[in-house]
Amino acid sequence: MTAKLIDGKAIAAAKRLNMKTRVSQLRSEGLLPGLAVVLVGENPASKSYVKGKIRDCEEVGIHSELIRLPESVSEKELLDKISLLNQRDEIHGILVQLPLPKQISEEKVIQAISPEKDVDGFHPVNLGRMMTNQDCFVPCTPAGIMEMLKAINVSVTGKHAVIVGRSHIVGKPASQLFLNHSATVTICHSKTNPLSNYTKQADILVVAVGHSDLIHAEDIKPGAVVIDVGMNRNSEGKLVGDVAFDEVCQKAGFITPVPGGVGPMTRVMLLENTLKAAEKIVK
Ligand code: GUN
Repeated sequence: MTAKLIDGKAIAAAKRLNMKTRVSQLRSEGLLPGLAVVLVGENPASKSYVKGKIRDCEEVGIHSELIRLPESVSEKELLDKISLLNQRDEIHGILVQLPLPKQISEEKVIQAISPEKDVDGFHPVNLGRMMTNQDCFVPCTPAGIMEMLKAINVSVTGKHAVIVGRSHIVGKPASQLFLNHSATVTICHSKTNPLSNYTKQADILVVAVGHSDLIHAEDIKPGAVVIDVGMNRNSEGKLVGDVAFDEVCQKAGFITPVPGGVGPMTRVMLLENTLKAAEKIVK
């Protein structure tokens, strides 16, 4: 393997250690940071993600509350719950785990969360602020990617960043964030043809599609930084990314593993956003 492995797990662990000090500082000022996590229904993946988020909070000393609602909950009941959380001073961050059941509009729910407590960074106010390069809550996965690059001393300025995927959660905000950091940005998606024409030009390649084996060695530039956001199960039930790791790692300069790459960074950035929300109160 020629590529250096970007150890998201270790970078995230170091960040959590540093956060413990920040939590102690806030506590000494009389403020206990608090995160409310709303989980609707019984989706096993959502349950597992939420469990991880609560555990992370416990590790760094952030107060967390899990609010569980049945699959049959009405949109109004959920919106009323969010309104109550918006009003509570001891809750600094609110996260409603997605996806939501079909009777509930995700858009309405996201917009009901106060932008000051929107630790997911999904509210249009925060997205608009990001567009105009103002201080805001940045969605956790794109924010985690930037933190990773900082941790390995890869500068983004002037680089060609190619983002594969245009989701609201990853691709679009990641593109904006790279642009804000003065990269030249290309956004690719399912209709981009041929995809490899673009990926081959990337100094930094971010792949967030959800298809295993989408990117092969022939699709990248030698020495590229490859960030794999994908989380797929292969035929053996093993967790794999969107990048054919075994071959791409022979040609890339840096590469993230799956698991242990972007995932832990996404989780830690939720804590970062919650701390940021709490720190704004004392500033
Ligand atoms: N479901 C999958 N990823 C996410 C995320 O980052 N935030 C929320 N709220 N739900 C998700």
